[in-house]
Amino acid sequence: MNKFTYYNPTKLIFGDNQIEELQQELLNYGKNILLVYGGGSVKRNGLYDQVLNALEPLHLNIHELSGVEPNPRLSTVKKGIDICRNEKIDFLLAVGGGSVIDCTKAIAAGAEYDGDVWDIINKKHMPTEALPFGTILTLAATGSEMNPDSVITNWETNEKYVWGSAVTHPKFSILDPKNTFSVPRDQTVYGMVDMMSHVFEQYFHNVKNTPLQDRMCFSVLQTVIETAPKLLEDLHNYEHRETILYAGTIALNGTLQMGYFGDWASHTIEHALSAVYDIPHAGGLAILFPNWMRHTVDQDAARMKRLMLSMFDLDTTGKTDKEIALEGIDRLSAFWTSLGAPSTLADYNINDEQLEKVANIAAREMEYGGFGNYKKLNQEDISAILHASL
Ligand code: NZQ
Ligand code: ZN
Repeated sequence: MNKFTYYNPTKLIFGDNQIEELQQELLNYGKNILLVYGGGSVKRNGLYDQVLNALEPLHLNIHELSGVEPNPRLSTVKKGIDICRNEKIDFLLAVGGGSVIDCTKAIAAGAEYDGDVWDIINKKHMPTEALPFGTILTLAATGSEMNPDSVITNWETNEKYVWGSAVTHPKFSILDPKNTFSVPRDQTVYGMVDMMSHVFEQYFHNVKNTPLQDRMCFSVLQTVIETAPKLLEDLHNYEHRETILYAGTIALNGTLQMGYFGDWASHTIEHALSAVYDIPHAGGLAILFPNWMRHTVDQDAARMKRLMLSMFDLDTTGKTDKEIALEGIDRLSAFWTSLGAPSTLADYNINDEQLEKVANIAAREMEYGGFGNYKKLNQEDISAILHASL
């Protein structure tokens, strides 16, 4: 392992009816609150009313930023910053999925920075201050509820970057499986693909002696694979929603990534893809990740084989590590397809017209210390992975 320091100050408040804790948590901050939410799912499923009822006894001044887009936009972040400054906001409360939470993080840091918030998102400025914020998560997927990261898109330049800082951990996150009952089937699938992809990104590293971390990765993957079909049969099943909700948080709250840093190239390529085509993040991952795996199988075929054997029952007789790994990748792709995830760019009507533009945008991340920590990629590799995904 590499040496490491682990610090995660987010208070995780998990379980049935845990919204009861909201009042207590908000006692610690000022009166001016910015409630941030998305396109209306929280109004349709009743959570918005529940939140307002829970806050009523505190006599807070509640301002709202609604309409945060999936793949949240810089323009919306700027609207939120204006509200924070004009209304002297003390605390932000994000109620929604990863997009709402990521947008809230950017607003929280941007409101305390005199320059353009894009400097923070494109990593030219590292924030040292942010307004405090908490979250009520409504979709199991990103882990944003318990990590400091945020992904924001600039539509004017077709750039979508992930950034994070020591000051953008949520103060608390409330996770009630019931708040995810109304997540539609397709978003439920995307969420599970995203959390599995987070585990893959972390598993692929070149650091020696990580037996416990590897097994923790396998365990999250096995749990998601076992639960996914059962959940899709019964979207209102509390126990399956609970399992997947917890899996999503564990997959990207730093627990798995102690002592090493994972690859993350597939995520970077996907962010470039959704910055050009505005497709769901995990839809892109379901298409790209198997092709990244095929492209990099020779880096350490034995390691990839072990991953595949942890997930799928594969016949290994007389086969090389590489053959078993490749068979496992096909099984992974077939598993995601069986859940209803896309498997080719054609599923989103994407052809090769703009793929070089996507590869160029992804390659810009090379400025930030290389591309692919497990297997270094150059622009030709990125292009090859994108073309294999058509
Ligand atoms: O906008 P509303 O109306 O709320 O609807 C949302 C949205 O349309 C809907 N939804 C959420 N909760 C619901 C619900 N619908 C019914 N019932 C509920 N309970 O689902 C749609 C997708 O929501 P979104 O927040 O976009 O999904 P997700 O949580 O998958 O977040 C995706 C974003 O997170 C970024 C992605 O790139 C993408 O921009 N990521 C963030 C990461 C992080 N911060 O650590 C890591 C990830 O790898 C990822 O890149
Ligand atoms: Zn992701």
